[in-house]
Amino acid sequence: MGNGGLSIMDVNELKNILKKFNTVEIGNYPTPLQRIKNFEENNNLNNIYIKRDDLSENPGGNKTRHLKYLLGDAINNNYEIFIISGPIQSNFCTQAAMICKKINFPCILVHNAEEPTEYIGNNLLNHLMEAEQIFVGEISFQETEEKVVELGERLKSQGKNPYIFHTDHSKAIASLGYIDCVIEIVEQCEKENKHIEDIFVPVGNGIFAAGVLYGNALLGQPFNIQLVSVEFNKEGVHNRIKKNVELIEELTNIKIEYSLDEILNIYDDYMGEGWGCPTEESIKVIKELAETEGIFLEKVYTSKGFYGMKDLLKRNIVRSKGACYIHSGGFPSLFTQY
Ligand SMILES: Cc1ncc(COP(=O)(O)O)c(C=O)c1O
Repeated sequence: MGNGGLSIMDVNELKNILKKFNTVEIGNYPTPLQRIKNFEENNNLNNIYIKRDDLSENPGGNKTRHLKYLLGDAINNNYEIFIISGPIQSNFCTQAAMICKKINFPCILVHNAEEPTEYIGNNLLNHLMEAEQIFVGEISFQETEEKVVELGERLKSQGKNPYIFHTDHSKAIASLGYIDCVIEIVEQCEKENKHIEDIFVPVGNGIFAAGVLYGNALLGQPFNIQLVSVEFNKEGVHNRIKKNVELIEELTNIKIEYSLDEILNIYDDYMGEGWGCPTEESIKVIKELAETEGIFLEKVYTSKGFYGMKDLLKRNIVRSKGACYIHSGGFPSLFTQY
């Protein structure tokens, strides 16, 4: 696969590369690319778009694109159970459970939390779906990963073949979904006569952002990618993206033409005290977007990223004639945040 070398290609060539990877038929793609004129007027801005990945499923979000490739990989390589871990309100866990229900693929969610006594947000959806959940108590991310590996070993000793998200291979596979997203935006700009120069992405561990950056680089940089951190400082984001891009390069056997320093724009001024800690401005922008456009952000990821875009554009730090925010979902967790 690939040519083992450096490469810039057109959309069709990139689509052909992606065809070599297995997917499952989930998600409503392309997701809409919507202009938010009321928000523009409110802020004296022009040409602002939202890529509605939050509408990819019900509930949707960035994880649907990841799962499209992850479950394709799992099914076509004879894995039998999908295992994923995360906090009790994890968007990834809920979307994994939901999509696995649709395609009849067994799925286990491992939560680093005590078993809840009330059902709200994503945890309510998990409950309604009768998702198989294991609660390992309030332990660290690292300890949870160890529990997941132990669970995997236990299942293997019972003759089952589990696919565990969080291996390097699975991270690279997950990122492929966001190459699709860049292709969609390029095609939508052409077909719908929209002009976009900058794409803004909220960044945690950077699996989502790495796919966007990589896809954009293979297409010869049609957009500038602006990364707004919700959790880690610049160096932390840089290291995560570097690792994730390398993993994708290994998977596809195609290296990007650019050095990361050339294409990485990272902003760590919007993350407040870190993961799960909103800022005064990010809370305000949830109300603003709801009031002006009827679009809902949430407190952990999407509002920090969106506020970052608004501020960078208003202060002309990013000078853009067309900006697009990728809305990565998280709607159910909003109900736990007020
Ligand atoms: C709604 C939402 N947006 C953005 C992200 C960030 O994705 P990543 O960790 O790949 O940077 C997440 C991760 O869980 C998420 O749930």
